[in-house]
Amino acid sequence: MHKQLLGPSITFFPQPTTLVSTIDATGKINIMTASWVAMVSKTPPTLAVSLHHLRQSYANIREQGEFVVNVVPADLVLAADYCGLRSGKEIDKLAVTGLTTVRATKVAAPLIAECPLNLECRLTLEVPLGDYRLLLAEVVEVQATASAIDAHGDLSANSFDPLVYLGGIREYWSLGEKRATAYKDGLQLEKP
Ligand SMILES: Cc1cc2nc3c(=O)[nH]c(=O)nc-3n(C[C@H](O)[C@H](O)[C@H](O)COP(=O)(O)O)c2cc1C
Repeated sequence: MHKQLLGPSITFFPQPTTLVSTIDATGKINIMTASWVAMVSKTPPTLAVSLHHLRQSYANIREQGEFVVNVVPADLVLAADYCGLRSGKEIDKLAVTGLTTVRATKVAAPLIAECPLNLECRLTLEVPLGDYRLLLAEVVEVQATASAIDAHGDLSANSFDPLVYLGGIREYWSLGEKRATAYKDGLQLEKP
């Protein structure tokens, strides 16, 4: 297959679209869009989030050591994009987007009510990466909206409809159809 060189770049997809919610010492809540987010370990569950050091959200996390990663559904695409364009230093993004918060169980930062999957995180390690800071955080609680859980107790991708970000080409997409079950269907290749 013929390939074209793109050079070193941040082109990489798909990525999740998340909103990181934080709180400062005065109790002021901020939310920001982050796609450089990944689950990177299992025991304990550990999330990696990379934030530019000038983000208000980074300042809040450094101060409080806690945050919530909220996975964004596709119908919140405009709110998610807005929260990636404006800083909490100047704007109350909750007021502009109309998003609402509810208390988390284990951390002071709140959940975003309209996001069906919320991971409560406690900062464990920070790694400087140029202008960015790679934050490793233990996931101390996960909450899911009850209506996004199907009859088998599984998070239903259809009702959840997570928003996908294509890094490098700056586009948001929805998921397509389910294609297979992971850790299982690949074994079909071993069948005679
Ligand atoms: C789709 C999208 C993804 C983004 N992902 C990140 C990210 O992973 N890390 C980061 O530092 N900034 C990211 N940004 C930029 C921040 O969301 C943006 O600078 C925001 O205004 C920071 O807000 P704050 O200063 O209130 O924390 C992203 C923006 C968009 C639109």
